[in-house]
Amino acid sequence: MMNETLTSLLNRPLRIGRRTIDSRLVLAPMTCLGHVAFRHLLDELGGCGLMFSEMCSAARVPYENRHSSAYFRWRDAEAGRLAIQILGGEPERMAAAARRIEREGLFGVDINLGCSVREICKFNQGAALLKDPAATARMVRHVREAIHCPLMVKFRTGWEDDARLPVDLARRLEDAGADALTFHPRVAPDVRTRPARWEYIARVKEAVAIPVFGNGDVFEPEDCLKMLQTTGCDGVALGRIAIARPWVFSQWRHDVASPAENYAATALRLADLIERYFEPVRALRRFKRYSAYLCANLSFGNTLYNCIRNAPDMTGVRAAVQAFFSNEPRLLTRPNVNLLR
Ligand SMILES: Cc1cc2nc3c(=O)[nH]c(=O)nc-3n(C[C@H](O)[C@H](O)[C@H](O)COP(=O)(O)O)c2cc1C
Repeated sequence: MMNETLTSLLNRPLRIGRRTIDSRLVLAPMTCLGHVAFRHLLDELGGCGLMFSEMCSAARVPYENRHSSAYFRWRDAEAGRLAIQILGGEPERMAAAARRIEREGLFGVDINLGCSVREICKFNQGAALLKDPAATARMVRHVREAIHCPLMVKFRTGWEDDARLPVDLARRLEDAGADALTFHPRVAPDVRTRPARWEYIARVKEAVAIPVFGNGDVFEPEDCLKMLQTTGCDGVALGRIAIARPWVFSQWRHDVASPAENYAATALRLADLIERYFEPVRALRRFKRYSAYLCANLSFGNTLYNCIRNAPDMTGVRAAVQAFFSNEPRLLTRPNVNLLR
């Protein structure tokens, strides 16, 4: 019954600006994880309503080669379902990046107001922009005036734990012309140590008329249903669980035990795809990054994680995966959050 309710909630189309998506479960942006190879895998497993790219530097987007860039890269087949997230602060640079994204025929543009890494905030980008809501809204308006495709913004609570901050910002973003918001209710310096405050999602949703995707700490279908029902949000953006279990989109949408729920086969397929899209050094680094999420599903996953981390190349990585799974490891119902960093 629970899954039936979830299925019907997720399978409602949602209008975002001039476009419509067919499902309300979307892939949250994740650096070094939500890349072109991972999204290719996701499509093979049934796809998802909308995917957000890793954050891309707005300063670089106008000059990137989409066929060789490590970040600003996609397959033609996914263009209509892919929003590119841009990171920056200077309005004209952000607008130039947005124009390139629109020209490429992608679904839309997403602005990053959440990254709180010091090296980024010191350039007044990412979560630093939460400190000056009026200036940030002006920047968003400038980008809005540059494009017609959907413009979205992903943001956090702010630098203090006060629900009035995201409510105020959400209203300003809507007024500046944003078509949809993704809200991750954590204060900026919190690296997912404390639980996300879902009650703030309800406050943001109430404050605006544009669609709001709730985000943060959804790991199981029960969590997803609870977020939708208790906050009233229009959709849910999945982060870490999407990497750990990429079949969740089709599983939760269609209420089926996915035949693809095969951890070893999925990991090996991703290894192939990563090698197809990235040069060897970057491919190995990206697979190692992903492997923490694979291992979070497994009892004694740390053992496999250490083997993969120490592997010298992709051949070693594949051997480690095959050896570990030949012993039929026990799967965890809820992933080990210590590995989901
Ligand atoms: C490794 C990693 C990289 C991330 N990179 C980005 C990013 O580039 N842009 C962004 O807006 N959020 C980024 N996030 C935040 C996620 O989009 C999401 O808000 C967060 O993980 C909470 O959702 P979850 O509990 O479903 O994982 C990242 C998170 C992780 C774990």
